[in-house]
Amino acid sequence: MNNKHILVTGACGYKGSILVPKLLNKGYRVTAIDLQWFGNELSAHENLVVEQKDVRDVHNIYLEDVDVIIHLASVANDPCGDLDPKLTWEISALATMQLADKAKRCGVEHFIYASSGSVYGIKDEEQVTEELSLEPISEYNKTKMVSERVLLSYAKEMVVQIVRPATVCGLSPRMRLDVSVNMLTMQALMNKKITVFGGNQTRPNIHIQDITDLYLFLVDNPQVTGVYNAGFENISILDIAQQVAKKLDSEIVVTPSNDPRSYRINSQKLLDTGFKPKFTVADAIDQIVEQYQAGKLHNNDRWYNLKWMQEQVLK
Ligand SMILES: NC(=O)c1ccc[n+]([C@@H]2O[C@H](COP(=O)([O-])OP(=O)(O)OC[C@H]3O[C@@H](n4cnc5c(N)ncnc54)[C@H](O)[C@@H]3O)[C@@H](O)[C@H]2O)c1
Repeated sequence: MNNKHILVTGACGYKGSILVPKLLNKGYRVTAIDLQWFGNELSAHENLVVEQKDVRDVHNIYLEDVDVIIHLASVANDPCGDLDPKLTWEISALATMQLADKAKRCGVEHFIYASSGSVYGIKDEEQVTEELSLEPISEYNKTKMVSERVLLSYAKEMVVQIVRPATVCGLSPRMRLDVSVNMLTMQALMNKKITVFGGNQTRPNIHIQDITDLYLFLVDNPQVTGVYNAGFENISILDIAQQVAKKLDSEIVVTPSNDPRSYRINSQKLLDTGFKPKFTVADAIDQIVEQYQAGKLHNNDRWYNLKWMQEQVLK
């Protein structure tokens, strides 16, 4: 058994709700910090402490016996980041700096950060590797870039591992239906019709089981330091819609889009560490369909970050 103590911020979110049970299964002790904007779906466990706290109140976060921090808390997508840019910067950048500073002073040896593949902005290069310049467009991407740089400045004092994930897909007890694969699958299930804006934009994807396995892999492999892209299927939104339509026999409607972002990321550097993804976009679609048809997945407003933040969190 493993006796490490891991502090996960944003632990009640989409990723955290899959990650925390995996950490507990491996025998880690976990402290889960989250404001619980979208509720808390974590089940009680003898090695889990759930604290409804704000990462901005760093004086209130105890790091004295923490071995690893996995920092997931943020205002977690472009449109939400634009709702209140000051709040976005305070949560997604300033709090990261304060947490890193306190971590160093408390002797935390290991910091894992969920950045985003969107920090590159729009690139013409076919292969977007970690060496390319960062040209973030939105407040969301800018806070990720700044947080990365702050954390890298602590790389001599602790293990710093930064992940730039693609858009995540698949099931979680705290579901997100605003991420592309999940959203298109849900549209087909509910309406037998999928509306695609533009459709030709290529985006990278990663299954939620793989991104959470990656955080476990990083906990176990502190020698893997630095920045890593994490996205394994670079496919167009239209490709995703077609995969869904084939499975669910639905109509695809393509409408013009004013979102030109088309990018692919190359994750060879991560693959070279020995990490292997196990799941695909097709798996995510199948799993969502199965869950919905079993009556276990509902179109809850809470699963749409923008709508929920506008109507409930920032009202
Ligand atoms: N889901 C994706 O496709 C994706 C892709 C790339 C990167 N990421 C990043 O991974 C992380 C987790 O994403 P997610 O999809 O689980 O998002 P999520 O919105 O489901 O979870 C974020 C969690 O952070 C919490 N939170 C927000 N502000 C907080 C604060 N001040 N103090 C404490 N908790 C706070 C929220 O309550 C929420 O539970 C985020 O940083 C996100 O930017 C996600």
